[in-house]
Amino acid sequence: MKFCEKDKCFFISKIRMRIIGTGRAHPAKVVTNAMLEQFLDTSDEWIKERTGMSERRVITSEKLEDLAADAARRAIEDAGIEPTDIDYIICSNVVNEYVTPGLSCIIQGKVGAKCACVDVNAACSGFIYALDMADDRIRSGKAKNILVVAAEEPTRMVDWNDRSTCVLFGDGAGALIFERSSSSYSGIIDTVVMSDGAGYDILHGTNDHKIEMNGPETYKRAVLSMPHAARYIMDHAGITADNVDWIIPHQANLRIIESCAARLDFPLDKILVTVDKHANTSGASGVLALAYGFESGKIKHGQLILYPAFGSGLTWGAALIRV
Ligand code: ACO
Repeated sequence: MKFCEKDKCFFISKIRMRIIGTGRAHPAKVVTNAMLEQFLDTSDEWIKERTGMSERRVITSEKLEDLAADAARRAIEDAGIEPTDIDYIICSNVVNEYVTPGLSCIIQGKVGAKCACVDVNAACSGFIYALDMADDRIRSGKAKNILVVAAEEPTRMVDWNDRSTCVLFGDGAGALIFERSSSSYSGIIDTVVMSDGAGYDILHGTNDHKIEMNGPETYKRAVLSMPHAARYIMDHAGITADNVDWIIPHQANLRIIESCAARLDFPLDKILVTVDKHANTSGASGVLALAYGFESGKIKHGQLILYPAFGSGLTWGAALIRV
């Protein structure tokens, strides 16, 4: 069912989940392009021009699980709930210290929650997949409060001698608390997730923790897939780009972001960009940008946010959120 208000139309569901808390945590170590120039045949100019990145945060002395738990604690505090109020934890993660258990379980233990936990590995689209799963669980009535964390350490997989990949990535963790709500206005309006496993060889990580990537092909697929998912979700909601206040795309590369904006006919000043400071933090990039958007006051309550992502799998998707 659709409802319209002024020139905007939205699908109504009696049950929806809304964001009530956000948190983020970054490693302390800042690696600038100038630092990369010291040991790689690269330049600040090349990296900025091809990717828009100036620096990235890289895990050195910290552990990813501690950053993830820090982000989660901040989100819980921001939401004003107790850890024991959380009914489910979903964590988007590709790689961390352990093959098993899932990072979600480690986060649960560290924050003192008592609930079921599961990890999602959908690479850079992992946060959209986690949102999609959380939304289903809330709408089915199986959960009231869900903690979604995206904690990623892609630098664990990079070869610091391979200039074509290592300059692109950074580490970080972001977290959101979602609450079941009967508001027909705010919350997750819709999510869409898609995959094409035939493209897995374009971009993958191996068991010996190496990223193998066909950069130009990854670029081409990203600039087709993110606008595809974004358009799909806008059509489904009966809205156009004019109705959207912010696009928070997966922060892969500034050129990818700009190309997606052009394809969607969306002005650049309504795109939240953090890739310059954080580089590509895989599934964590969008939630880190969202948390930054709230903290900086750029994103205001009531705004409509479109959140497209693309990554290894190949996977892609989008979420439409009234915050
Ligand atoms: N510094 C200097 N030169 C470099 C570097 C570097 N860090 N990396 C590659 N080069 C060189 C190459 O060796 C090549 O040199 P050659 O012409 O002598 O062979 C030249 O630059 C051009 O290489 P291309 O790969 O064609 O460069 P391109 O313009 O495609 O840019 C890039 C490379 C930035 C990786 C681009 O392909 C890209 O952004 N792809 C998407 C990658 C991505 O985002 N991956 C993240 C995971 S997936 C996701 O998050 C969506």
